[in-house]
Amino acid sequence: MALWGQRARSALRLWGPGGGRRCISNSVSASGIFGSRGSSEKKFSLQDVAELIRTRACQRVVVMVGAGISTPSGIPDFRSPGSGLYSNLLQYDIPYPEAIFELEYFFHNPKPFFTLAKQLYPGNYQPNITHYFFRLLHDKGLLLRLYTQNIDGLERVSGIPVSKLVEAHGTFASATCTICRRSFPEKDLWADVMMDRVPCCPVCTGIVKPDIVFFGEPLPERFLLHLLDFPMADLLLILGTSLEVEPFASLSEAVRASVPRLLINRDLVGPFAWRPRSRDVIQLGDVVQNVERLVELLGWTEELQDLVQRETGKLYV
Ligand code: APR
Ligand code: ZN
Repeated sequence: MALWGQRARSALRLWGPGGGRRCISNSVSASGIFGSRGSSEKKFSLQDVAELIRTRACQRVVVMVGAGISTPSGIPDFRSPGSGLYSNLLQYDIPYPEAIFELEYFFHNPKPFFTLAKQLYPGNYQPNITHYFFRLLHDKGLLLRLYTQNIDGLERVSGIPVSKLVEAHGTFASATCTICRRSFPEKDLWADVMMDRVPCCPVCTGIVKPDIVFFGEPLPERFLLHLLDFPMADLLLILGTSLEVEPFASLSEAVRASVPRLLINRDLVGPFAWRPRSRDVIQLGDVVQNVERLVELLGWTEELQDLVQRETGKLYV
């Protein structure tokens, strides 16, 4: 029990700005990793992962995602050099990038956060095929849970039920008064946000902050579901994240050693770089291209196209 108690404490541990591990450059090739291991062990491949899903040998798939799955939808991630949000905050006049998600700075000047919130306003962006692939996993009864660091809400928009989601860094779907702690639905504050006004509580005039988890704030209680999900998982998919922020990043090592882990990411990150496992599969490169490849190996391409067309009315080619 001690271990789970420890994990519960770490799961609710406050995490520091930009804490956790750094991205590892993609110069470390996956074959370099597999080569360094006893070659007797069969190398796991994307085909093997597809086979496990297609034959339903794996039926409790846990997914972990970050901002990299939403860049194809037009939302910048945080740390990609040049294009990431943290490289483009000059117009906000903040002391350092992560300050936009820090309470102390928020109370000093909430404007930069609400300017960003206006950009991320739900409805401005649409899910891409990565989100709809997860929806298909759910529709087929294979998705145990999707853990997301993203606050864009695109997992919900793609039709994945909230019961299957853990929005580890919060959501814009609700908001809380920072003084009297009254809760408000998102619709109550968006008029202010869209008019560049800081939303204030009608009761105590405190600032009303969307339920986005700021650095130093505890994660939502639902995050504790990982204590059940990860020991049960029989396949872990990790897509579009630098695995730099704790305690989310550590979940990547919370599945049993025998459980295959698939990383789809532009960079080699986290334990895939410095503590890989024999059943890791690493697909470096564009998330959409790699998801399309996996979907093709699964034989789900047509189903996915139909789903995207039904959901968006647009033909996805
Ligand atoms: N295809 C593949 N990988 C991509 C793509 C893409 N189209 N776009 C971005 N990536 C990769 C980047 O190379 C990077 O490794 O996705 C990763 C995104 O990493 P971050 O920008 O650090 O985003 P994320 O991991 O979600 O950040 C975690 O940090 O500041 C906090 O709260 C914030 O939730 C966020 C957390
Ligand atoms: Zn109030």
